[in-house]
Amino acid sequence: MKKGLRSRLAQYGDEEFALFLRRGFLKGAGFTDEALDRPIVGILSTASDFNPCHKTAPQVAEAVSRGVRMAGALPFVFPTVSLHEAFSFPTSMLLRNLMAMDVEEMISALPLDAVVLIGGCDKTIPAELMGAISADMPAIVVNVGSMLAGKHEGARLGACTDCRRLWAAFRAGTLDGPDLDRAHDQLMPTSGTCMVMGTASTMACMAETLGFMLPGSATAPAVSSDRWRFAEATGKRAAEMAISGGPLPSELLTKAALKNASVVLQATSGSTNAIVHLAAIAGRAGIQYDLDELDRVGREVPVLLDLKPAGNNFMEDFHAGGSLPSLWRRLKDHLDLSAKTVNGETIGEIIARWPPYVDDKVIRPLDNPIVPSEAIAVLKGNLAPQGAAIKLAAATPALFQHEGPALVFDSLADLEARIDDPDLDVTPDTVMVLRNAGPIGAPGMPEAGALPIPKKLGSKGLKDMVRISDARMSGTAFGTVVLHISPEAAAGGPLALVRDGDIIKLDAKGRTLTLKVDDAELARRKTEWKPPAKPERGYHRLWVDTVTQAEQGCDFDFLVGK
Ligand code: FES
Repeated sequence: MKKGLRSRLAQYGDEEFALFLRRGFLKGAGFTDEALDRPIVGILSTASDFNPCHKTAPQVAEAVSRGVRMAGALPFVFPTVSLHEAFSFPTSMLLRNLMAMDVEEMISALPLDAVVLIGGCDKTIPAELMGAISADMPAIVVNVGSMLAGKHEGARLGACTDCRRLWAAFRAGTLDGPDLDRAHDQLMPTSGTCMVMGTASTMACMAETLGFMLPGSATAPAVSSDRWRFAEATGKRAAEMAISGGPLPSELLTKAALKNASVVLQATSGSTNAIVHLAAIAGRAGIQYDLDELDRVGREVPVLLDLKPAGNNFMEDFHAGGSLPSLWRRLKDHLDLSAKTVNGETIGEIIARWPPYVDDKVIRPLDNPIVPSEAIAVLKGNLAPQGAAIKLAAATPALFQHEGPALVFDSLADLEARIDDPDLDVTPDTVMVLRNAGPIGAPGMPEAGALPIPKKLGSKGLKDMVRISDARMSGTAFGTVVLHISPEAAAGGPLALVRDGDIIKLDAKGRTLTLKVDDAELARRKTEWKPPAKPERGYHRLWVDTVTQAEQGCDFDFLVGK
């Protein structure tokens, strides 16, 4: 395999001419022959003015470049699709696979020997890992890091858990506009990713646990000096990988690594979105992500990490409290310690050498968890034959067992139009159903699963009720919310057949979600069901034609496997 500038030459039918031309353009940019003979590390930058979470990505790239040069290689920074959760219509999830394709194709086409993937905001790290695994090129992730916690009138605030809490109070009329405005200024007080255990923090912890990041690096805040030191060290390690040719993603992304990810997902009460992303990441390596294993390890592992939304602290506290390897140490009897990481050590070797200090208040011991039982449960039943998920750690225990009449919203537009109707036929016992919000239906499976509490109930103080859907939910959200129902309604799943007033039974501890309507009636309703119209052209058409269901990761079917 040719290395450096000699690799992946443009095809002119004359390789030496292609190299002559390539070197010539770089000479034009001021490079010397000595520089151009070095191994090359690509630095994939996700800097974008439309991605404020990644405002510091250029500085991260600069520190990575410094590390690459220190280790004798040549850094090249290049752009890719960059996704921010709040800036993409209809949802950034719709573009995750586009970003994954961009990552795969660019790192497969460019003359680089290793790549540093700068990620952070929710979909970016999943897309980068998906692309890197498919390209199977030496790859290492460095995240932009999380925001510092906000401080407002004596309270610490965190995006977006407190965004949701304050907005719900505003909707319920218990917080007025000026108070909301003052808090608004402090909800995101620095650049960086959301500083609670939302999807960005979760996926950073997943990437480090899967072995794709330097140990301890996932938790360093965006504006800390640790962040720049980790970036420099990541560049140095990438240069070593460029020279040695490994390790490859296929050596890291194993069933053992995925089991470890499931254990850490439960112990951190991580975002349910990680289930979909882990399934997509595993799928790229030809592995089916094991939902039964996720459920099983959840029964064995309580929630140890005291971070919002399950607890009280923020990512900066996790970092100062010992960071991820300290949590691994707590969990070592549940982890596969032989799993390899990108720096050449196994998880077990990292635990053995990690400093002994740990803040028990943030990374709780096993005998004093923040939540004594599983964070996430996987449900099945006649309403979710291929599965559904519920975050028990964010739900109301009194609603774990609940039976009530369905109130069906056929789409997000229907939900928005009727949710605050004073005549809405809803009581605290109602099971609110949102459908056609899944991978095909929305399209893009937006984070709409935590349906707002109808104003007529919220204004009377009701904080939670059972809500079910084929959508996703933000990792920063809370409530008794069943998500990822599969098959989704738009694919003809049983969710499409629910009618107002049907009785739905949730038995979260028994792991079932049941529509109490007999099979003959459901079969009759199915004959009346019609699939939704498809987009006529472009990327949206490609998406609905080829996207897989939630338990397979919502990847495109033609990108799964080797
Ligand atoms: Fe970017 Fe939360 S919106 S991490």
